[in-house]
Amino acid sequence: MSVAQSEPLTDADAPAAFIDLERYPLTAPDSAGYVRVIEDARGRLAQSALLALPGFLSAHGLRRLREDARALEPRAHRSVKQSNPYNVPVTDDMPDDHPARILSTTERHGVAYHDMGGTAMAALYRWAPLGRFVADVLGLRQVHLHEDPSNALVLQIYKPGDQLAWHFDRAHFSTILQLQKADEGGYFEAAPNIRSEGDENLEGVHAILSEKREPPFRGRSEPGTFVIIFGRNCLHRVTRVIGEHARISLILSYEEQPGMKLDAKTRKLFFGPDAPDDP
Ligand SMILES: [Fe+2]
Repeated sequence: MSVAQSEPLTDADAPAAFIDLERYPLTAPDSAGYVRVIEDARGRLAQSALLALPGFLSAHGLRRLREDARALEPRAHRSVKQSNPYNVPVTDDMPDDHPARILSTTERHGVAYHDMGGTAMAALYRWAPLGRFVADVLGLRQVHLHEDPSNALVLQIYKPGDQLAWHFDRAHFSTILQLQKADEGGYFEAAPNIRSEGDENLEGVHAILSEKREPPFRGRSEPGTFVIIFGRNCLHRVTRVIGEHARISLILSYEEQPGMKLDAKTRKLFFGPDAPDDP
């Protein structure tokens, strides 16, 4: 782990205090309340591929993580790109109406894990009961921390004008903590399970991208909400942020296998030239 350790966290910064433990009893995994939360979460995730757990952070936790976000914001790396939802190059053999020919824009600001040493965010990400909770919701025996020095934990800041292009995720699942809503815009739009392993449903994807069909899901999570999505077959985007305030979220990467990381070239592409080289 190449994250710099600065001064130790105080008791008030213990990650347990960042969670609303009455509602989400992460420190009592054998309790009936915990089992109920897990069963409810699994049921909802199986139905929709999207799970939002509102009020997951305590008031103290939300305040503390937003303080981190404010302090880290000057280090954010701006990235702008045009892409199709598959993140593949367009080739001549693709028919004219192939959805890969429709590009949309990503413009956003990210702070990488290597810039988060000593923060409450980093402590929460590494806190074992949170990893266990994610594994339990997903029905996995355990999850591992992503081992990339930059990509393991990313603070995403969508400033006014920023947006995230329509895409499918490469990862099977993603876990996100929402920290701040935009004044207007900044909607998460999604078409869960629009494709499957055996059926790309190019027509359905094209209809959403060309705005012939509305995406079935459109929402804005309240700050403090923990979100899990199955993104591989869920077409999704973040609409343009409008108003004065940024939309801020924290992406926590957990993996089913240990040892996962980006190669150095991709890391620098995502996080800028100051991102660490491979050791
Ligand atoms: Fe995504």
